[in-house]
Amino acid sequence: MKKRIFSGMQPSGEAHLGNYLGALRRWVEMQDEFDCVWCIVDQHAITAGGDPKEIATNVLDLAISFLAVGLDPEKSIIFVQSDVPEHTELAWLFNAVTPVGDLERMTQFKDKSQRFESIPAGVLNYPILQAADILLYKADGVPVGEDQKQHLELTRDIARKFNTAYGETFPETEPLIAEHVGRIMGLDGKAKMSKSLDNTIPVLADPEAVWTKVRTAVTDPERIRRDDPGRPEVCNVYTLHKFFATDQAREGIEEQCRQGAVGCVDCKRLLSDSIVDAFAPFREKAAELHANPSRVLEILDDGAARASVLAQQTMVEVRERMGLDWRNMIQ
Ligand code: AMP
Ligand code: TRP
Repeated sequence: MKKRIFSGMQPSGEAHLGNYLGALRRWVEMQDEFDCVWCIVDQHAITAGGDPKEIATNVLDLAISFLAVGLDPEKSIIFVQSDVPEHTELAWLFNAVTPVGDLERMTQFKDKSQRFESIPAGVLNYPILQAADILLYKADGVPVGEDQKQHLELTRDIARKFNTAYGETFPETEPLIAEHVGRIMGLDGKAKMSKSLDNTIPVLADPEAVWTKVRTAVTDPERIRRDDPGRPEVCNVYTLHKFFATDQAREGIEEQCRQGAVGCVDCKRLLSDSIVDAFAPFREKAAELHANPSRVLEILDDGAARASVLAQQTMVEVRERMGLDWRNMIQ
């Protein structure tokens, strides 16, 4: 039997280069080999307190990004979390086996909770819903960026605790974190690329918008004049070149940077052009889908129907194990 792979992404605006390199590009590759389930996690997004109208349009935009970069409904299940209510049901049941201390230890919780005077319980319980997403489909592996590692360890703990308390039900899911792309740095070159830090390069934006962002990228701070010799090893623009340039072109850039023969602005222009070129076919596909949203809705409806079949099978088992299938059990 093929291994089951699950992953999710929050609908929090346009997909950026970190999402693409750290997640989407790998998801596309996995579709041929594995039995894949890809989820737009809108119920996670509400914990960030977003505007309801924005969440709704972001769901459609993210679905379009998924399809544009090559997620294929013929090969994978693509759906929206809130269309399958079993996610929240299982999350509630997992509350029974998840220690509050484990949730409080999560780095993301510690970071996010500083933004609130009164912390919503959803910000604390966020990883329980994530564990439910994954285990509802009994996923063997979850491809994510490095930032999700801790949440996946907690998912394994929850599975283990559930299995101990109620009998062997869930697998121990493997985090699939790729080397080199697990943590793509943002335009500031300091923090990971993240929508909330406003340091992203949007991948499906028009060429001018990509340039507007790339031109602000921080380079080698010690390189002040154009003909100062540069140090590619400390320059994030150079790091990003590695994903787009051929080996030969990259070596050329490295050499010219070291000699002070190419200025940072020209180097950024080169990067911006490479990104724009690499994503041109995806941009075209996205424009087609934007013009035909009913096709996207059809795909999401079909995905939700297929996900529901799997989710319902798991929930029958879980309810029975937890004594919640009580009508049948007292007969
Ligand atoms: P998010 O947009 O935070 O829902 O993240 C969606 C997926 O992209 C997750 O698998 C993240 O781990 C991954 N991701 C987000 N930002 C980055 C980054 N800067 N580098 C690598 N992966 C990332
Ligand atoms: N927490 C993840 C993020 O911020 C998104 C997510 C929710 C997820 N449920 C998931 C990722 C299940 C993998 C599997 O990126």
